[in-house]
Amino acid sequence: MSGPVDTPASSQGKPARRPRVFSGTQPTGALHLGNYLGAFRGYVAMQETHDCVYCVVDLHAITVRQPRAVLRRNTMDVANMFLACGVDPERSIVMVQSHVPQHSELAWILNTIAYMGELRRMTQFKDKTGGGEGESVGVGLFDYPVLMAADILLYGSDAVPVGEDQKQHVELTRDLAERFNNAFGKTFVVPEPVIPVDAARIMGLDDPTKKMSKSAGSEYNYIALTDPPDVIRRKIRRAVTDSGTEVRPGPDKPALTNLLTIYSALTREPVETIAERYVGKGYAEFKSDLGDVVVEALAPLQARVRELEADETYTLGVLKRGAELAESIAARTLAKVHERLGLVPRPR
Ligand code: TRP
Repeated sequence: MSGPVDTPASSQGKPARRPRVFSGTQPTGALHLGNYLGAFRGYVAMQETHDCVYCVVDLHAITVRQPRAVLRRNTMDVANMFLACGVDPERSIVMVQSHVPQHSELAWILNTIAYMGELRRMTQFKDKTGGGEGESVGVGLFDYPVLMAADILLYGSDAVPVGEDQKQHVELTRDLAERFNNAFGKTFVVPEPVIPVDAARIMGLDDPTKKMSKSAGSEYNYIALTDPPDVIRRKIRRAVTDSGTEVRPGPDKPALTNLLTIYSALTREPVETIAERYVGKGYAEFKSDLGDVVVEALAPLQARVRELEADETYTLGVLKRGAELAESIAARTLAKVHERLGLVPRPR
């Protein structure tokens, strides 16, 4: 049987394994236009050239306390959003991290080769905990990058599409993989971080100097992928603009550059072509048109999300199959790791 994992034999009779991609998304809140244009759209494109594993990383999410019902909802939301954006479960593995126990198991083993010093140096840890010196900084937050390394290494991933903020974690993953390989013999593929295909870096609507973010103070920072049309239009109307009146990009126009980038990413027209059409017109007209563009672009995705939400059985079926496929790969990797370490195999 052919599938995303065991690729059919090529004409030479050798298994034609395509390079593997792994990426994880935390189920911690509204997915927004920045996630879509910066990541999800690239995940979909990478299915053409790679065997992909797209994972809802719920065990990462619980490094910050989550109300039970919220975690459950957010986990299903991310899975639905993968599917609604065009991740094809016939070609890619769509899974939830906690369904495959090998993630936690390999994280433990990697803990035994990771150094306190290298984890303490992680920028995200420092940002989240103010250096982690306090007595009540969670161990999970400290160890977060090791679990992420386990995610990636379990699947022999070659490429990890991540934004700038996660690159350091992939570098650590490389270091851990190489350290293990050197100490115990070649076991892990050493992965590369890749910038997601046609990724657009979308900034906050209320502050175009920082990335669009669900954890920003105001909901006027982001457009949630599930925002209804009137909310989308209102958020764009209220987006900050730059001084002057011209609709054009430029270093002196961070807000307009961002809005034009959104327009361009969704219509695939060059920013300059769009700007030319607005010569002599004002911000209001541009924003109104941009509202239409965003509403129209998200409509099919939102329709699909509503379908998936109306009947969870489809998504749950995808996750069941995803966990099975994932576990079959992960178990093989973990068995090899045990063998390398000298752990006695469980008698059968
Ligand atoms: N840390 C990533 C983030 O916050 C999520 C993540 C977990 C991830 N495991 C991963 C990303 C493995 C890529 C690969 O965005």
